[in-house]
Amino acid sequence: MAGPDQRPTNPPRLQILVCDGPSCGVTYESELLKERIAGKIAGDPELRGRCAVVDYNCFGRCSEGPNLFVRALGPGDGPGDDPDPSELERQRGFYPGMDEAKCDRVLDEHCRKGQPVVEWVDDY
Ligand code: FES
Repeated sequence: MAGPDQRPTNPPRLQILVCDGPSCGVTYESELLKERIAGKIAGDPELRGRCAVVDYNCFGRCSEGPNLFVRALGPGDGPGDDPDPSELERQRGFYPGMDEAKCDRVLDEHCRKGQPVVEWVDDY
């Protein structure tokens, strides 16, 4: 349920999977994005403790990288748990072609406000 400012009153725990596969990790240096995201989370009381950023080994959409996925964690999911691929297919949280500015906006709108960035988010 959203409050007056449209933020969820009970925001979900989120796992941000950043691809470090052979294309995203090497060609697109996704580690730099992961470090940026981790720093933003650590410095933000609204995200810290609720969002985790982890490596993911290839979404199979390598030419679109660097790619990440914002996944809502279930009650039994730990922040470092590998996702079931079928879970990624059920959630709409795949973001291809990320850069620093896009990551910042995804963190603010999808992760903080619970509003996926509709012009960038894609099915997996
Ligand atoms: S290396 Fe990132 S999607 Fe394959």
